[in-house]
Amino acid sequence: MRALVTIGTKVRKFDAIILGAGAAGLMCAARAGQRGLRIAVLERAEKPGKKILISGGGRCNFTNIDAGPAQYLSANPHFAKSALARYTPRDFLDLVEKHGIAWHEKTLGQLFCDGSAKQIVQMLLDECPGSVDVICKADVTAVVKEGDTFAVSASGESYAAPALVIATGGPSIPKMGATGFAYELARQFGLKVVEPRPALVPLTLGGEDVLFRELSGVSAPVTARAGKAAFDEAALFTHKGLSGPAILQASSYWRAGEEVGIDFRAGEGDEWLVEAKRERPRVHLKTVLREHLPDRLADALAERIGIESELGNAPDKALRETARKLADWRFRPSGTEGFAKAEVTIGGIATSELSSKTMEARKVPGLFAIGEAVDVTGWLGGYNFQWAWASGVAAGDAL
Ligand code: FDA
Repeated sequence: MRALVTIGTKVRKFDAIILGAGAAGLMCAARAGQRGLRIAVLERAEKPGKKILISGGGRCNFTNIDAGPAQYLSANPHFAKSALARYTPRDFLDLVEKHGIAWHEKTLGQLFCDGSAKQIVQMLLDECPGSVDVICKADVTAVVKEGDTFAVSASGESYAAPALVIATGGPSIPKMGATGFAYELARQFGLKVVEPRPALVPLTLGGEDVLFRELSGVSAPVTARAGKAAFDEAALFTHKGLSGPAILQASSYWRAGEEVGIDFRAGEGDEWLVEAKRERPRVHLKTVLREHLPDRLADALAERIGIESELGNAPDKALRETARKLADWRFRPSGTEGFAKAEVTIGGIATSELSSKTMEARKVPGLFAIGEAVDVTGWLGGYNFQWAWASGVAAGDAL
């Protein structure tokens, strides 16, 4: 049972309280602090920015130069436009360069630190002026609004302010302390929450597909399709099913019960096996596939297709069908590896409840929500941090 907060004499008063010292919360604090506001950032963990520290394999893929609304999923695809347009990847890059942090583009517009993700956390803390208190080991357990004031209880201390920002992220990677606290709080204030589900997450295979688990460790460049989305990147077979960037991206568009289509021979069309037969009639399907795919994968696909004779003995029709099958191999995942392995959460505080300009709740003046807590989810590749920065700035400038 939660202790209810009352505003007493030992209450620390601020202009705004930000819940969560993650990417969005720290950015919001820096911006609001720079306008002279007294800000408390309350963080449950022993240090700020823990997800930033582990991101991008420790080098933080801090933005994507191509980030735009098209790379985000939300019940309202227009919601993110305003904040993303007002704080762009170039703006964040300017900040990174102002702090002398060396960076590089890895692939597909993904920008990483040359050194360490620690530099990004330090940069955000350095951007916070003296009017910002980042208070760690402050586990927020209760919030009430009394008149125009939000009263917050965190690890036995009480805080009060006329504005409150929910920046506690989503429930992905509970091992790191991630929870659905943002949703509880939103519901407490009467805000709708779009059903959260794991995204950027490996898919599990069952049934007949389970045989593909034998390929654990094999990866290949593919086009992965789910719903209307298609991603040209690597797929990786795992001991539970499918992973790798192409699959993680597709997972955000996949719904339980649906199929995922994998194109193992991107862009080759229907005729390439017939042409191979004309050129080399003595060759076996397995051999042709091995020229394009890792041996174990080529063998497994050839075995499942079942053309065992030389290509010269296979009818053209069967080879065309095989080419089509290889261009759209259907898997029916049994599920995902869940929040335990999800890089982000899809869903969250409904955008219909918030102003797209300021992130303030329409029906609760003074209450804001930013970052992953909100129903805006980016692709893999720096897009989620860009949303955290942009939404943090939108709220930070409006507090
Ligand atoms: P974030 O989760 O960063 O911060 C929320 C904070 O609130 C946490 O510090 C938490 O401890 C605190 N909190 C929660 N409940 C609380 C409570 N009750 N009281 C007080 N504090 C509380 N994205 C990207 O763009 N590029 C990348 O390279 C990666 N890499 C990556 C790797 C891994 C392993 C994961 C799990 C995720 C990524 N991401 C990523 C996604 C990215 O980390 C994520 O989108 C942002 O961290 C979201 O920022 P937020 O500030 O919204 O939440």
